[in-house]
Amino acid sequence: MTQPHFWWQTGVIYQIYPRSFLDSNGDGVGDLPGIASKLDYLRWLGVDAIWLSPIYPSPMADFGYDITNYSDVHPLFGTLEDLDALLQQAHQRDLKLILDFVPNHTSDEHPWFQQARQSRTNEKRDWYIWRDPAPDGGPPNNWSSRFGGSAWQFDEQTEQYYLHVYDVKQPDLNWRNQEVRQTMFDVMRFWLDRGVDGFRVDALEVLLKDEQFRDNPVNPLWKPGDPFYTRLLEHYVVDQPGMHDIMQEMRALTESYSQRVLIGELYLPLERLMPYYGEQLDEIHLPFNFQFVTMPTWEASTIRQAVEGYEAALPQEAWPNWVLGNHDRTRIATRVGREQARLTQMLLLTLRGTPTCYYGDELGMQDVPLPRALMHDPVGKNHPEYSRDPVRSPMQWDGSANAGFCPAGVRPWLPVASDYQTFNVAAEQHDPRSFLMLTRALLDVRRSHSTLTLGSYQSVEQESATCFVYQRQYADQRCLVALNFSAHDQVVTLPEQGQGHVLLSTHGDCEGLIPLSEVHLRGNEGLLIEVEASSLPG
Ligand code: GLC
Repeated sequence: MTQPHFWWQTGVIYQIYPRSFLDSNGDGVGDLPGIASKLDYLRWLGVDAIWLSPIYPSPMADFGYDITNYSDVHPLFGTLEDLDALLQQAHQRDLKLILDFVPNHTSDEHPWFQQARQSRTNEKRDWYIWRDPAPDGGPPNNWSSRFGGSAWQFDEQTEQYYLHVYDVKQPDLNWRNQEVRQTMFDVMRFWLDRGVDGFRVDALEVLLKDEQFRDNPVNPLWKPGDPFYTRLLEHYVVDQPGMHDIMQEMRALTESYSQRVLIGELYLPLERLMPYYGEQLDEIHLPFNFQFVTMPTWEASTIRQAVEGYEAALPQEAWPNWVLGNHDRTRIATRVGREQARLTQMLLLTLRGTPTCYYGDELGMQDVPLPRALMHDPVGKNHPEYSRDPVRSPMQWDGSANAGFCPAGVRPWLPVASDYQTFNVAAEQHDPRSFLMLTRALLDVRRSHSTLTLGSYQSVEQESATCFVYQRQYADQRCLVALNFSAHDQVVTLPEQGQGHVLLSTHGDCEGLIPLSEVHLRGNEGLLIEVEASSLPG
């Protein structure tokens, strides 16, 4: 029998930031053996795949997103053998392993760039993007780096500028060069041959740049306080013509292996995001849907709009996905508070599509503020208010020193949250009402109800502006999700006559059978209700 759905459609992805998960060798930095030792936890939690942020050799200017060798493991994290062992142990537990693939740029310390900068005629020169200075000697155009300042860096030796959309230590590769493409495709094969289950592809929207290097237009909506680089619209840097041919090639390569997935990091508005599925669904399996991490307001009505807009925009048969947080964005429990974060966890795990969970969010972990002097993130060094260090703090395993992330007496690379004694895996495992047990219960219900993995999605109209209600339906099974995004009690009305069985409340107390005509929700409560078969029309 052929499998009707792939694992990346029914499964749940868990993102691990390897530096911060578990330090097994006492150097204050997480590593691969540390991750391997927690696979049973992940299985217990109930996720299906792990995505690792980069584990490759790197001078760590951007914490592994600046790579010096695409086919090896940084000694901080372990060895290639450790990676193979992790892969094998994950597979033994029926967990998939997804790696981060960073095709847009290398480290400036990568041997390719070292060669390229030797002379204008070096055979690797065209692997990167070089331009002559403007007539006044300044940068070739007005493009900004996403990490601050100009996107161009002058190279004294060869008297040209090179392009870096991110840090000055992350020169952009020239994807118009065929050798670059083939070399990067070989990198993908290297890992796929080893058995990895797919890639989360970094910074995809900027892979190609305007061939004429035209100036970017000024952003009329920019105001002081907004990130510097958003002063200009990235018109000639983002989503350029030619991208889809590359995506198709990447996909064809991936399809030549069985059951692998491509997930794309694409910060794009919906109308520009959807084409990345490919006209024939032959590009990215899951272009990340970042609506929940970029929404300026967090209210029932805006959330509903986001969901409906996304559902309506999806090409036929394209598989949806949802993200609440990642290593670049404020944690959900900080953004919306812990009470609403519970509700939001229910939202993430009951919407139609593949959810990606960020490590620690299952505990209700919050951002850990830190003084500028302790910041590592290159963004934070320039602009402390945008530092991503706070969202990358060590995983909180237990109430012992350093939250069990690294041995007592060792200084973790980033400070541990001050409330770790309350919010940690060990403590929460013993509290049936904890954030962790809610997440686990949601994952459990999701796994055992095809309605939640495969069912259709439909919003249910509400009078109350603070409630978001929807139903999921699969064959003759139906689930209702009712979420109250206010601190006050609310009543929602459902067009059903019969009764429903409350599978889960975010408040941790299950209420059994309830009448569906009028459902009472406490402040910040979410209910997941299975509709009784006899309540279904016809
Ligand atoms: C992506 C990564 C981010 C990194 C950047 C440059 O946005 O998620 O962490 O800094 O790419 O590689």
